[in-house]
Amino acid sequence: MRKLTIAIDGHASTGKSSIARGLALKYGYIYINSGSMYRAVTLFALENNLLELLDQNIDLFIEKLKNISINFKFNKNNLISEIFINDRNIEKEIGSLKVSNLVSRVAAIPKIRREMVKLQRNIDRNKGVVMDGRDIGSVVFPDADIKLFLTASDAVRANRRHKEMIKNGITVSLDDVLNNIQNRDELDSSRSDSPLIIDKDAKVIDNSNMSIEEQIDEISRLIEEKATN
Ligand code: C5P
Repeated sequence: MRKLTIAIDGHASTGKSSIARGLALKYGYIYINSGSMYRAVTLFALENNLLELLDQNIDLFIEKLKNISINFKFNKNNLISEIFINDRNIEKEIGSLKVSNLVSRVAAIPKIRREMVKLQRNIDRNKGVVMDGRDIGSVVFPDADIKLFLTASDAVRANRRHKEMIKNGITVSLDDVLNNIQNRDELDSSRSDSPLIIDKDAKVIDNSNMSIEEQIDEISRLIEEKATN
């Protein structure tokens, strides 16, 4: 079968990463969670007291950003591609509400987006790639073989995300999670650089009432049809 590029975009907490990861494992593709990259930049800014630079001297911030490396390493034990800043695994830290509440502001800055898109396009696509995010089908890989746009009701998304955060040991209220995903959707959809849109070639999947397995089955049919034609 031909190796494909699969772009999965959509609203916050629609299970994009679970679907992308499941597909990557099933087909042996590389999986990149582009949201983790914007979260890593946000964590870097927070931990190094660089928030002011974001507004006042973005060029200096980008220079500092270029001194660190943001990369993924596959963890064979949990089958997750975990994100690192240099040699430090930051998978847990990037899930905090603090990072979640700031990330859309950071991700709206064009010079930061440019750096992230460069890294995302550096991936060797010959092995097959599944990337999830907000602008993957519209900006990063406009030539993707399959473009998906995931959505679900606000209540379903907030509940899923809340459960996941509690499972990861993060104490947070359902209301705060709901507010966060609604605010992020609003900021991500209204920014001027690479806003979250439904690309004209994207297939929209509302997964409010679908399991992960059902979605993987549906998308697998698209992949197998495309890859054998
Ligand atoms: O995917 P996740 O919800 O972790 O993404 C966190 C945030 O990163 C999004 O709300 C959005 O602001 C930003 N993002 C983006 N473009 C992407 C992926 C994520 O702007 N391709």
